[in-house]
Amino acid sequence: MKKKLNVGLIGYGFMGRTHSNAYSQVNHFFDVPYEPVLQVVCGLEENVAKDFADQWGYKSYTTDWHKVIEDDNIDQVDICVPNNMHAEIAIAAAKAGKSIICEKPLALDAAQAETMVDAIEKAGVANLVSFNYRRVPAVTLAKMLIDEGRLGRIFHYRANFLQDWTISANVPQGGMATWRLDVKAAGSGVTGDLLAHCIDTAMWHNGQIDSVCAMTETFVKKRMHVETGKVEDVGIDDACTFICRFGNESLGNFESTRYARGHKALYTFEINGEKASIAWDLHDLHRLSYFDHSDESIVRGWRSVHVTDGDMPYMDKWWVPGLQIGYEHTFVHQVADFLEGLDKGEPASPSFRDALATQYVCDAVLSSAKDKEWKTVKKA
Ligand SMILES: NC(=O)c1ccc[n+]([C@@H]2O[C@H](COP(=O)([O-])OP(=O)(O)OC[C@H]3O[C@@H](n4cnc5c(N)ncnc54)[C@H](O)[C@@H]3O)[C@@H](O)[C@H]2O)c1
Repeated sequence: MKKKLNVGLIGYGFMGRTHSNAYSQVNHFFDVPYEPVLQVVCGLEENVAKDFADQWGYKSYTTDWHKVIEDDNIDQVDICVPNNMHAEIAIAAAKAGKSIICEKPLALDAAQAETMVDAIEKAGVANLVSFNYRRVPAVTLAKMLIDEGRLGRIFHYRANFLQDWTISANVPQGGMATWRLDVKAAGSGVTGDLLAHCIDTAMWHNGQIDSVCAMTETFVKKRMHVETGKVEDVGIDDACTFICRFGNESLGNFESTRYARGHKALYTFEINGEKASIAWDLHDLHRLSYFDHSDESIVRGWRSVHVTDGDMPYMDKWWVPGLQIGYEHTFVHQVADFLEGLDKGEPASPSFRDALATQYVCDAVLSSAKDKEWKTVKKA
């Protein structure tokens, strides 16, 4: 008999759907010790919350997140709301003794993230931040190859996250989905939204980032605000590029923008080591490019590894070799690892403290761009 884990989901938007799907699917594919029970969903609009509850099988719905926290029947709170609400909800959930999965970025800034880590660690509750790209099998395989020493000494880590959806000055700030353009709701622009993913994966692969030098730009400086109806200054970074030094002395090069015409969600990274290199592309997420310098020269070249075999990360749980999986599965992996960790008392990463480390890099990047100088990154 599996133990029941009663879940309260706060936020029924994009991430609310990916997380609900993960809870629904996890027991079909993974032999985890818990059975998540979708108890209550919370969102701003009552009729949407009701429809969402019906569609995904939640037993009830509410428009008041406090009710989710106050409900003694809820074991786990899942936070899928805009960034400015993460801290208040997570701290309240920790005080109520709930386990927590929180969407990224952890907070609006590092100061706020510190208060969250403090509350979570004081309460001793299980916690995880949803940097889901770590759990793309090809990205996890990259981590395995690095940890096995196949790349040898690492010289370069390069990552891009490119989009093009805010080029028009008519895209508003504030409101559903476009809250990302409102600095009060998002904290920052592409740095916290997109580069945070690249930074989390990079530090997981290649260790601590010690110092950064960045530039940012806000191409459209005024936008209509959905909530006030007025044209207001835009406070977020539309584009950000930074270079950095890792603790292992390798060099990093990161770029993110929402102004790369033609790119919708092009997350790529390449890692160059002494013995081998690795490259990955979200648009082809089930493949890992690998170059091994020890290959015989007449057949040496970049291989495209189709990450579908049963001995590759997570793939024994899905179909048969040759058949690939996609984006939504990363959230299933996340929940599966979280539930395993919950049972064994060995928390799955990234924890709130790991996400604080990413937040320190984001803060250093924004402050470097503002002051036009190198910044040292605080350690979590
Ligand atoms: N891991 C990823 O790849 C990834 C991708 C997208 C978004 N995110 C993160 O997920 C979070 C949510 O983003 P999204 O794209 O799902 O946003 P969204 O705009 O699609 O949904 C936001 C939800 O928050 C709810 N909400 C807003 N204010 C509320 C309130 N006061 N009380 C209750 N509910 C409220 C809305 O009703 C809506 O359901 C953000 O932190 C974002 O950065 C992560």
